[in-house]
Parts: sequence; C-alpha cells; structure tokens
Amino acid sequence: MSKRVYIGMSADLIHPGHLNIINEGAKLGEVTVGVLTDEAIASYKRLPFLSFKQRKLIVENLKGVKKVIPQNTLDYVPNLLAEKPDFVVHGDDWKEGIQKKTRQAVIDTISAWGGKVIDIPYTKGISSTQLNENLKSIGTTPEIRMKRLRRLIQAKPIVRILESHSGLTGLIAENIKVEINGVTQEFDGMWSSSLTDSTSKGKPDIEAVDITTRMHGLNDTLECTTKPIIYDGDTGGKVEHFVFTVRTLERHGISAVIIEDKTGLKKNSLFGTAVPQTQDTIDDFCSKIQAGKNAQVTDDFMVIARVESLILGKSVEDALERAFAYVEAGADGIMIHSKEKTGFDIKEFCEKFRQNNSSTPIIVVPSTFNHITEVEFSNWGVNVVIYANHMLRASYPAMVDVAKSILSNGRSFDANDKCLSIKEILELIPGTK
Ligand code: SPV
Ligand code: MG
Repeated sequence: MSKRVYIGMSADLIHPGHLNIINEGAKLGEVTVGVLTDEAIASYKRLPFLSFKQRKLIVENLKGVKKVIPQNTLDYVPNLLAEKPDFVVHGDDWKEGIQKKTRQAVIDTISAWGGKVIDIPYTKGISSTQLNENLKSIGTTPEIRMKRLRRLIQAKPIVRILESHSGLTGLIAENIKVEINGVTQEFDGMWSSSLTDSTSKGKPDIEAVDITTRMHGLNDTLECTTKPIIYDGDTGGKVEHFVFTVRTLERHGISAVIIEDKTGLKKNSLFGTAVPQTQDTIDDFCSKIQAGKNAQVTDDFMVIARVESLILGKSVEDALERAFAYVEAGADGIMIHSKEKTGFDIKEFCEKFRQNNSSTPIIVVPSTFNHITEVEFSNWGVNVVIYANHMLRASYPAMVDVAKSILSNGRSFDANDKCLSIKEILELIPGTK
C-alpha cells in the first residue's frame, strides 16, 4: 500500500515553492493537502485574499494532490489524528520562529505510529510576504472589499474596527501592526463615523453633512486602503432616501451601514438623555430596515440596526424586544449602544440576546465602557468592536498643543519634538519622492 503524505497550506498565493513541496511529497506517497480555513489563518495573520472555497479548488487541481481536506486550526494535530500520515512535508522555514512549536507538535503526534516530518529546503527567491505586499499595492475591488467584513466575522473571534475620517487615518487602520508573542495584531477595517466626519468639517453631528459630501471624504480612504468599511448611517434619514444610501454605499464597496432607531433631529448618542432625542417606533424602523435590504443588489452588503434604548434611559428588555424585531425584519447585525461607564448593561444585553440568537452578529462601540477588553467582549458574544472616534480625538489635542507652542514662542522650533520630522513626512506616503 502506498504511503500517506500530509501537507498543510494556506494556498492563497500558490508559487513554485508550494509546487516543489507537493512534488517532493508525491515522491513519498499519496498526498493529502490540508487547506487552512479562514479561521485557522486569521488566528495568526491577515485573512487570505481568496476564500476557502477558491483556495480548495485551486489545490484540488494541482498535479500530485490526491485529496484536499480543510484544516480548521493552525494546529495540525486534529487532522493528523484523523489521517494518520506516514509523512508530513513542510518547507524548512518552520524550524524557526512561531511555527517551531507547531512542527514539534506534529513530530510528537505522528511518531506514535512511526510517522516522520520531512523538511524541504525553502525555495530561494520567492517570498509570500513580498507577493502579499505587491498584491496590496495593486489594491482591491469594491466587491472583494465588501465581502471581507462577512468573512472576517465568520473567521475571527472578534473583528476590530478603527475610526477613519481621511486618507491618512485610513492608512493607519490599514498598515499599523504590532507583534505580540509572534502573532501580528492589526485592525480589520474602518468605521466612517458621523461624529468625526462632521467634526473634522467643523460641523455638529446632526446629520448636517450629507451623504454626497461624506462619500467625497470616504473616497480618499477608499483610494489608499483595502480593508472593509462600516458606514455610520445615522438615522438612515427618510425611508425613501435610505434606499439610495444603501445603493451608493454598496456600489462603492462599503461592507455595511449601521442605522440607529431614532427620529427627528439626531443628536450624538453620547449626550444620552441630556438633549431631547426620540426613538423610532419598532414598526417604522423595521420598515426602514426592510426597505434597505430590498434595495441592495448583492447578498453581501449588510444593514445593521443600532438599538438606542440604553442611550435613551430605557431598559435592557426594551433593547432586546427591539433587537429581536429588527433581526426579524432582516437586519444583518445588531449594534447595541450605551453611554453607561460600567458596561454592565451591554453585558446583560449580549448574554440575553445570545440565549435566543446564537448567530446574528453583535456590534459594540465602547467609547465610555472602554476598560472592557476585546477578549471579554468576545466572551459576551460580541462579534465586532468599533473604536469610533479615537483617531480624531488623538489628533486634536496634539494639533492644539503645537498651535499654542508656536503662539507662545513666536516660532515653531520649540514644537519640533511634537511634530513628525520633515524627513518623516516626506517618507510617510510612498511615491512622494
Ligand atoms: C459615531 O462615531 O458617530 C457614532 C458613535 O455614531 S457615537 O458617537 O458613540 O454615537
Ligand atoms: Mg454617529
């Protein structure tokens, strides 16, 4: 009987290095490829460009591959126990770095039935990382970008969204990374906030900046980023207008609109009951959600309903009643908002919502209850956390500080350390030179 060979791969950008490994594997026996699912990949790096279905199809059609199965975790062990391969073949780059532990677990597992790990010398001159960078510089399409939010919600325990109100803040959401224990942490997408879009234009957050103007601004972000965008649609306006908003956003590749169940002159939620605000009736808001859902052209665009009950001093029960009605009306997600500092009301809402609904995404905007961590939110059943205003709030005090320093000193020299150097700003945006 021929030997069994197992190869795990993401297969997002197939290059000769992958073919070499499959080829070497096929010399040893019948090759089964475990294609890593979106979930498995997102647990340690950026979501792949191609969907799992597409990646599986590609690998199934490669010469030397006998069988393709999903590998649901970065850890090979579950598949190895099921497949009992004689050999696991991998590029020798996994001897170092974060993958070292994975390799050791493979050796420990397959040695139980005499299996062996075969490390294939890394193919020189090809780097997936470089290919990925090149792909990023090509950009994206509205369709690929739009679909990404649903994929991220499926793949990740929590999706992390950062406010962006300009091309520059878009680039921060797109590119800033930190590495923690070998795992790269980055933002998954951007929030187009009515508060920061209005504030950056010197206008109040009362729906005074219209969608046409906001789309002009958003276009700057679209031009220089590839990550998905969630649009703050305020109240959605009149039902007759909202259908056009949905079409406009969808056509530009925005992934989702969030509309809040308020009527009349909208004021920012963080005022709570300090200003007069009226909540919509359940029936009317459901009609608006339905109109939005009927207006979209694709299956991918999301209309998310934002429940303002807790903002308006009403009970968690009221919020739940509305949330269930909005889901029934077709909402693709529920954003539950509050200005309560403890986060207790949000926790109670999430836990009670999850008792009756295990799948509809929950979105939170922790501006006041921001001591709660992403891990805690995830444990409560939250899917998306939006950092809704932080880029604007961070930049304003820094700018005022420098303006005051110039006034106080009659020169800008004293503010040098508070500013990017001239060299840094010239190098910030590729292509400036
Ligand atoms: C926004 O960012 O504009 C929001 C969130 O709608 S909040 O400001 O908390 O209302
Ligand atoms: Mg808003």
